[in-house]
Amino acid sequence: MKSSRDKRRDKRPQADRSSPPAGRSERPVAPRRNPDTPDTKPAPEPKAAPRVLKRREGALPAERLPVILEVSPNADYALLDSGDGEKLEQYGPYRIVRPEGQAIWQKALPAKEWANVDAVFTGDTDEEGMGRWRFPKTPLGETWPMRHDGIDYLGRFTSFRHVGVFPEQGSHWDHMASLIRNAKRPVKVLNLFGYTGLASLVAARAGAEVTHVDASKKAIGWARENQLMAGLGEKPIRWICEDAMKFAEREERRGNGYDIILFDPPAYGRGPKGEVWQLFEDLPALTDICRSILTPKPLAVVLTAYSIRASFFAIHALMRDTFAGMGGTIESGELIIREKAAGRALSTSLFSRWVAS
Ligand SMILES: C[S@@+](CC[C@H](N)C(=O)[O-])C[C@H]1O[C@@H](n2cnc3c(N)ncnc32)[C@H](O)[C@@H]1O
Repeated sequence: MKSSRDKRRDKRPQADRSSPPAGRSERPVAPRRNPDTPDTKPAPEPKAAPRVLKRREGALPAERLPVILEVSPNADYALLDSGDGEKLEQYGPYRIVRPEGQAIWQKALPAKEWANVDAVFTGDTDEEGMGRWRFPKTPLGETWPMRHDGIDYLGRFTSFRHVGVFPEQGSHWDHMASLIRNAKRPVKVLNLFGYTGLASLVAARAGAEVTHVDASKKAIGWARENQLMAGLGEKPIRWICEDAMKFAEREERRGNGYDIILFDPPAYGRGPKGEVWQLFEDLPALTDICRSILTPKPLAVVLTAYSIRASFFAIHALMRDTFAGMGGTIESGELIIREKAAGRALSTSLFSRWVAS
């Protein structure tokens, strides 16, 4: 039988397949029609049966909302200023200007501060890769040394205006690291849609055994580079280039379990073999599978969503229903970055997480 995902496969226009990833820096309510694109050619796939979702039995978990998780300016990263549709950020040694659709207010810093920058994302659609960036001072290489909470990694100018890290995720990483350390037992972490691997590195440093999954071979390569850069080469991390849904389904069939699952899916994306990911259609099934592949004593499941037309109440309801009978608490809200110049909050994404205690 054809799954709804299979039926959708290859129905999207060709242009969409080569377009850039859904920009996380967009306001969550602003949908984008561009997928996170894998760098391998889509090919026909065997069909999988659709998942039949049943309402889970049992008491709903406790709830806590709204929870606003905030990243403040720090030595590694700072949102310096924002306004007039742009943001000015400090990534390690570099000051970078990128578009920011949500910044509908006025810039607080004087124009000379905005001119004194190292890189500006031009968004020139005729260009690929670093061609879409302008370097007003000196031409810069594709990568540069960055650090998150003592973990060295590479910042990176990508053609999709991203820079190899989503600093707002730091709140989730801190929370996850403390769960791993406090567990005082072996902890297995699954990081779906893992990108350049920062969350995987934070988990591994805290002592977890990590499985990292992403559809992009390029992103997996960057994540492996980051592992070496961080000096965490000996830590147990499995780097897997695969469609997130397929991987999770397989783990369920095999009876494999995880204590913590992170999933940070784009609005639209593609697996390495052309599998279509559409958040509104596929999230309920993936959330359900995530619940099924938890160990008997799980610690947390953390969902982030961005660039979608939804409120955190929507993913809160999905998570709370899916984790019925599990006890614990569902906490939901937004991830925000606090700006240095005028203290304004830039919302980056919605989240909902189940925590055992
Ligand atoms: C923006 S990122 C997630 C960021 C990451 N959680 C972090 O904090 O660094 C979205 C990732 O999803 C991946 N992706 C898109 N569609 C996918 C799919 N069907 N299966 C697995 N990964 C996918 C993209 O390659 C991209 O790396």
